[in-house]
Amino acid sequence: MSDAVELRTDRPHPARIYNYLLGGEDNFAADRAAAEAGLAVNPGAKVTARSNREFLRRVVTFLTGVGIDQFLDVGSGIPAADSTHLVAPDASVVYVDYDPLVVSLGADEPGRVHYAQADLREPNRVLARAGELLDLTRPVGLLLVAVTHHLQDAEDPHARVRRLVEALPAGSYLALSQLTSDFLPDEWRAIERDSGRRGVVLRARPGPEIARFFEGLDLVEPGLTPVHRWRPDDRDRQSDQPDEVVSILGAVARTP
Ligand SMILES: C[S@@+](CC[C@H](N)C(=O)[O-])C[C@H]1O[C@@H](n2cnc3c(N)ncnc32)[C@H](O)[C@@H]1O
Repeated sequence: MSDAVELRTDRPHPARIYNYLLGGEDNFAADRAAAEAGLAVNPGAKVTARSNREFLRRVVTFLTGVGIDQFLDVGSGIPAADSTHLVAPDASVVYVDYDPLVVSLGADEPGRVHYAQADLREPNRVLARAGELLDLTRPVGLLLVAVTHHLQDAEDPHARVRRLVEALPAGSYLALSQLTSDFLPDEWRAIERDSGRRGVVLRARPGPEIARFFEGLDLVEPGLTPVHRWRPDDRDRQSDQPDEVVSILGAVARTP
């Protein structure tokens, strides 16, 4: 890791909290404390993280199956098992994250895999970084998996996502998952408040607000569902979990 990377290990960061919930080791005491505070309120949070990660794997498998051979994975997280370029070994992948740790741990493969630091709140910069490797005149699989819940309502995540989607050609796909308040509203409000006090934005949204990310696009079956119900396959370990434990909705849609 470069000495120049400013990690602020005294503060929790979403990528490192998520890494802890997935059983990884790229996290620090502040991240573990934030994750444990969330687990105290919602003991299912590790299931949420694992279910989401399995959704990502199935989505990338699905998209390669329909011919997508380039991915823009925004809010990609710390490299982990079943990262996009491993699930799609013949595809080009640009990983974008605002956390410098993600970019410093990622290993570029010239011409195929590229890690870039950029912020979803600046979609034009995200697109510029994507264009360093991807051909944005050809269909792209845009992955926004478990990232929009780190934007406040005032930051208008819907507009940021729309800007990215509109920049992609017809036949591209948007895959998005995000925490929902539908099943355990009181618990998620408590986690949001605790995260906010620690400096981490977390916004679990009601289903209809999540559905709005897909407005104007053609939803792929089965539409917006708790992620463990989205085309489960025989590798899944989370498909029997109750919806409220998973508490994250996801869908895939094609751009017309
Ligand atoms: C919960 S993790 C999800 C990781 C991965 N997408 C997955 O689903 O397995 C959220 C990631 O989004 C990143 N993130 C949060 N806000 C972001 C923003 N405004 N721009 C870019 N990345 C962001 C965090 O650094 C973290 O790596």
